[in-house]
Amino acid sequence: MASQSAASIDNVMHESRVFPPPAEFSAAARVKSLDEYQALWDRAAADPLAFWADLAREELHWFEPFTETLQWNEPFAKWFVGGKTNAAYNCLDKHVAEGRGDRTAILWEGEPGDTRTLTYAELLSEVCKFANVLKSVGVGVGDVVSIYMPMTPELAVAMLACARIGAIHSVIFAGFSAEAIADRNNDAKAKVQLTADGAWRRGKALPLKETVDEALAKSHTVETCIALKRIGEPVAMQDGRDHWWHELMEAASDDCPATPLDSETTLFILYTSGSTGKPKGIRHTTAGYNLYAKKTFQWVFDHRDDDVYWCTADCGWITGHSYLVYGPLAAGAACVMYEGAPNFPAEDRFWDIVEKYKVTTFYTAPTAIRAFIKWGDEHVEKHDLSSLRLLGTVGEGINPAAWLWYHEKIGGGRCPIVDTWWQTETGGIMMSPLPGAIPTKPGSCTKPLPGIMPKIVDPMGDEVGENQGGWLTISHPWPGMLRGIWGDDQRYEEVYWSKTPGMYLAGDNARRDEDGYYWIMGRIDDVLNVSGHRLSTIEIESALVSHPKVAEAAAVGRPDELKGEAVAVFVSLAAGVEATDELRDELKQHVRHEIGALAQPDDIRFTAALPKTRSGKIMRRLLKDIAAGKETVGDTTTLEDYTVLAKLRSDDA
Ligand code: WTA
Repeated sequence: MASQSAASIDNVMHESRVFPPPAEFSAAARVKSLDEYQALWDRAAADPLAFWADLAREELHWFEPFTETLQWNEPFAKWFVGGKTNAAYNCLDKHVAEGRGDRTAILWEGEPGDTRTLTYAELLSEVCKFANVLKSVGVGVGDVVSIYMPMTPELAVAMLACARIGAIHSVIFAGFSAEAIADRNNDAKAKVQLTADGAWRRGKALPLKETVDEALAKSHTVETCIALKRIGEPVAMQDGRDHWWHELMEAASDDCPATPLDSETTLFILYTSGSTGKPKGIRHTTAGYNLYAKKTFQWVFDHRDDDVYWCTADCGWITGHSYLVYGPLAAGAACVMYEGAPNFPAEDRFWDIVEKYKVTTFYTAPTAIRAFIKWGDEHVEKHDLSSLRLLGTVGEGINPAAWLWYHEKIGGGRCPIVDTWWQTETGGIMMSPLPGAIPTKPGSCTKPLPGIMPKIVDPMGDEVGENQGGWLTISHPWPGMLRGIWGDDQRYEEVYWSKTPGMYLAGDNARRDEDGYYWIMGRIDDVLNVSGHRLSTIEIESALVSHPKVAEAAAVGRPDELKGEAVAVFVSLAAGVEATDELRDELKQHVRHEIGALAQPDDIRFTAALPKTRSGKIMRRLLKDIAAGKETVGDTTTLEDYTVLAKLRSDDA
């Protein structure tokens, strides 16, 4: 409920254990103590523009230097104005030019067990070739390339090839449905579609090309489709539109200098859920994003040259963009990339990979950690995990019990854990321990990174007191921030800036404790966090009401041990339609078809009517309580028809 008073949010977390960084870790770290962190943060806060300008000059390659650090015309930011750079150059050519071309860039492992290693020089050559392929099908600066691919090195190659020539990538997670792809393609006006014949998932081939064919029938701007051969099963190829990746690559030259691009050239759009039905195309640009991803990667993961870094996120999400591709590659890291499921062929696959590649830095999601706990310690104990020195989490809050398990069982009690808070919109990590400097408290993302100035406010915009819940905002622009919502400046202004003028409204509740540590307390809008993925309730509801048998629907989250939140929906049926178990399954399948498997409701309850306010707003808060099996507490005085609530409860019994 967006209107709920933030001050009334209960502070229910009572976790007081503190874990200082191990002395040995701190001694070798980039930032070695709390004092050192504080000095860095203070310096950045005193003069953020000078701070970021210096870093931009040090960390990025400039074909032409920038003349102005920030043009801020709230809420529109332009960073490093007048400069020309290239994100693919910063991730690849820069290392080769500095004599590090032979270093490992990607250590890839396919789900069936096939492997490939690419050095920076080899990755550069692939990227150049594919950039030439894109050019050959008419892609240039500002064209949108839609990517629906498995987690293969070619996915990273595709992203970087776009970056190299100023094309804009829009990566769509390969679990989304044809409908979802078509919506995104149409919104972005995508010109080219990249895909594969299929993807491996738990030993089965997912028919990606088939899904894309269905999507392209409705994506009227897409002229060309390029398919990677991954599975080797026959697929339909449409004459004139479809090409095989390997055939085009065979003919392509690997000579393709990086295009010098204005700092503010759009690098990518990535669709994410908001509190209204239509997914938002979050827009990030070249220089600011690239700098922010690189610098935050170095700080938070305390990157060292001998590290082997593994981020388990898929490139279909922002974590895959910032911390599998742009951040670590700009920092010259050796990155493990894994194609498949964590429990194939068995529940120890991740630990097998950690042992095999001697992973030092491991970054995953709390939902995965909860699954490992459920699967049992024996899968972990089979493997030597002594190479690990640092662990990270992202995507949702981690409950202290899971944190402690992660610390003990995976980290052997010796590895700091970086609980990183950030969003698709922020481009990179905003709050996180710096592992050598900041003592951790299980469940807290601890402190803001240098240059980041969070403020927790009430709905009037006034800062709340210590340990009081409120809206989390950021009070100064930062280089990695989103530049807008693709094609919808008004929505950008409305969603992020209108309620708290002068501050970026993150959409999360938080509190700050007596030590200045931040604790994230969940969303303030109607967004669910299912397995670390954002889903809007309204998206799910629109999918349900598009079914002819449904009159009205409301979706809410209910706490789920494994997924964080499960999707619970309340459906009232069209006149004369009977509520049956078959219909329940049919509706689940329908949502799956409209959005994708990740949005499939866990519970469906049929109800004659939904509880509403007198002005007709569905009272989601009440439904949430019912879904969670809680007594309804709080204010029901605005409820239009009390009998509805009584009926929902008795249906429940
Ligand atoms: C949630 C993922 C608590 C939060 C990078 C945020 C978290 C949303 C954390 C963004 C964390 C992410 N602790 N909550 N460490 N990290 N969130 O855009 O609600 O997929 O607003 O970006 O996830 O999700 P998104």
